[in-house]
Order: sequence, then C-alpha cells, then structure tokens
Amino acid sequence: METIELRKMTRQLCHRLYKGWENDASIYMDMTLFQPFVYNEAAINRYFDLKNDFSRIMFAIMLADNPIGELQLKRIDREKRECTLSIHLQNDAVKGQGFGTEAERKAVKYAFDNLGMVRVYADTIIKNVRSQYVLEKVGFKFVREDKDFRYYCIERN
Ligand SMILES: CC(C)(COP(=O)(O)OP(=O)(O)OC[C@H]1O[C@@H](n2cnc3c(N)ncnc32)[C@H](O)[C@@H]1OP(=O)(O)O)[C@@H](O)C(=O)NCCC(=O)NCCS
Repeated sequence: METIELRKMTRQLCHRLYKGWENDASIYMDMTLFQPFVYNEAAINRYFDLKNDFSRIMFAIMLADNPIGELQLKRIDREKRECTLSIHLQNDAVKGQGFGTEAERKAVKYAFDNLGMVRVYADTIIKNVRSQYVLEKVGFKFVREDKDFRYYCIERN
C-alpha cells in the first residue's frame, strides 16, 4: 500500500497543492457559501503568509513527492500543551484510500512526540460523518456537540 508522509508546508508546496484543489461540500454548513475553488497565485501567497504564525504548523500531506492535502496543528498552546488538528485532502481522487487516517495518526504522534502536547482537539460540522468516523478510528473521543459542531479530543497516554 502506498503511504504518505507529513512535510512542513512551503510556499512552493502550497501552490502545487492548491493548483489541484477542489472544495469539499462536507465542510460547508451553509451550502449557499459553497463555490468551486479557483486557483489564484496572489491569493495563495496571501493565504500562505497568513497561516505562517507561531501558533500553527502547516503540513503538506505528501504522496510520492506530490502534495495531496493540507494538515494543520493550530491554536498551539505551549503552556497548556494543547493544540487543534484540521485536515483537508486536495480533491476526491485522493479521498477514501486511507491517506486521511494515516495523516491524522502521524500528526497526533508528531504533536505528542515532537511538540510535547498532551491533548489534541478536533471539530467537525454535524453533517461531516466521514470526518467524525475517521477521527474516532484514529482514537479521538467525542466530547460534546452544539447546534453546529461535534467536538473531539485525544490525550497522550
Ligand atoms: C475527512 C478526510 C480527511 C478523510 O480522509 P480520507 O483519506 O478520505 O479517509 P480514509 O480513506 O482514511 O477513511 C475514510 C473512512 O470513512 C468511511 N466513510 C466514508 N464515507 C463515510 C460516511 N459518509 N459515513 C461514515 N463513514 C464513512 C470509509 O469507509 C473509511 O472507513 P474504513 O477505513 O473503515 O473503510 C477527507 O475525506 C477530506 O479531506 N475530506 C474533506 C475535508 C474534511 O471533511 N475535512 C475534515 C474537516 S473537520
């Protein structure tokens, strides 16, 4: 089976990733906001600069040297030793093959082993059952839900 690795996102990887990007309806609570993604070089440069901050690590999910998704460890709190995971694969062609599960497992391990975190959070909109299923498969526990989101957490053993 092909396997993925997490690589720190670079500007160049970010452009390669978003050139093949498709927005996924499962993350839109309000479908009137859903629009097909259109690559724009300047917008990706702005996005990369905006996301490059001390509270976040952005990874490219790499498959055979191609970026196939983005995974972020964000809201990194070095005192509480907590952070939040988010993930989005590039397009439908790379979904449903186990890469998301593997990327989440690797990211959680990175958060515990490399960043010294004790807790990683994640949340999904209510309708995103696939993401909830994958989080649980990786070991996240359901914490609570409100009218819009389901909240999950995994703790270091
Ligand atoms: C969510 C996401 C990261 C999962 O990654 P993936 O590589 O597609 O998922 P995997 O192939 O690793 O695993 C999918 C699992 O969900 C299951 N699944 C698929 N659709 C499902 C559904 N509607 N309900 C429940 N389970 C579902 C599959 O059967 C598979 O389980 P299995 O391995 O036991 O057979 C990816 O689909 C994605 O980027 N989606 C769009 C963005 C998104 O939703 N991000 C999360 C925001 S919180």
